[in-house]
Amino acid sequence: MPKIAEIADLKRLYKRRVPKMFYDYCESGSWTEQTFEENSSDFDLIRLRQRVAVDMTNRSTKSQMIGTDVAMPVALAPVGSTGMQHADGEILAAKAAEKFGVPFTLSTMSVCSIEDVAEHTSTPFWFQLYVMNDRKFEKAAIERAKAAGCSALVLTLDLQILGQRHRDVHNGLTVPIKPSLNNIADLATKWRWMYEMSKTKRHSFGNIVGHIDGISDMSSLSVWAAESFDPKLDWERVKEIKKMWGGPMILKGILDADDAKMALQVGADAIIVSNHGGRQLDGALSSIKILPSIMDAVGDKVEVHLDSGIRSGQDVLKALAMGAKGTYIGRAFVYGLGAMGQDGVSEALRVIHKELDTTMALCGERDVQDLGRHNLLVPKGFEGEWV
Ligand code: GLV
Repeated sequence: MPKIAEIADLKRLYKRRVPKMFYDYCESGSWTEQTFEENSSDFDLIRLRQRVAVDMTNRSTKSQMIGTDVAMPVALAPVGSTGMQHADGEILAAKAAEKFGVPFTLSTMSVCSIEDVAEHTSTPFWFQLYVMNDRKFEKAAIERAKAAGCSALVLTLDLQILGQRHRDVHNGLTVPIKPSLNNIADLATKWRWMYEMSKTKRHSFGNIVGHIDGISDMSSLSVWAAESFDPKLDWERVKEIKKMWGGPMILKGILDADDAKMALQVGADAIIVSNHGGRQLDGALSSIKILPSIMDAVGDKVEVHLDSGIRSGQDVLKALAMGAKGTYIGRAFVYGLGAMGQDGVSEALRVIHKELDTTMALCGERDVQDLGRHNLLVPKGFEGEWV
């Protein structure tokens, strides 16, 4: 196995091994990609306080996210088309998460279905749902998630229409791939990916194919979103879905203190401060920059999680020290998956955990739950003054 020191090592391998179209789908943001880039670069603006002569023995990264014990407060984020990054990708990622002791979130737009993932794992996973105008599909998806024993519903609020993603437009992204001269040339160099794909039957959107009537073309997220996501989504609908689900609900895509207050009012069990990895509203602030205002607004009343931009255990530590109770990695685990399948996801988790643990120790902390602003040096004006 190649020696992996950091997430960037996995990314290099991932780029070599996965068709360009799916690499680009993952490694891009919308429009100018400003928000996509700042999600990560804003973490670098925050510095860490080194403390010495503190007992570093018996450290613990154990914590809880929505009452579930976690080996570290880092869940796998829902990522569409994960099963195109590597054959059976969602099953492999869920297995790696289960082994590590962190939550796995299955996307509505997954290749492996809810039932597929349930069959191959024994720890309950979380299911991410889009609000659909096909109420029959939505209701059935919720019932299927319940039947599969999913322990939380992650409702995405920031993708009722799709952000404009230039690389996907240029690549003509579809699931499964529709052969064109360009991608045939690319695929010829991706023999490992092709070989693994040839061994599985899971090549299209498993939660959707066979479960929905009247969609003209299910092969692209943009067509599916345009035809199926409900642009009328409002807070009343969120309440209805919460009632229909009846279990813990996490609201994803909160990037504004007023929305965070609304999320609290509708009874969210947790919120995810997120801009969808910079894939939706380009020009929005990074998640880490917006986090302090959301903590001020609701931090003592609802569990606040954060995604978008996390590529290391140090980023995780910074988000936690700024007040988040949990974090999510999306791209960071997809790099591992595309690079080396299940072992690659395990490597991504191992790297993030090691970085979190080592950084904690060098900051003079032994328990991840004791992290706080006292561990950070946050530059004056970090959040920016916006009018
Ligand atoms: C789907 O959620 C995507 O961002 O592509």
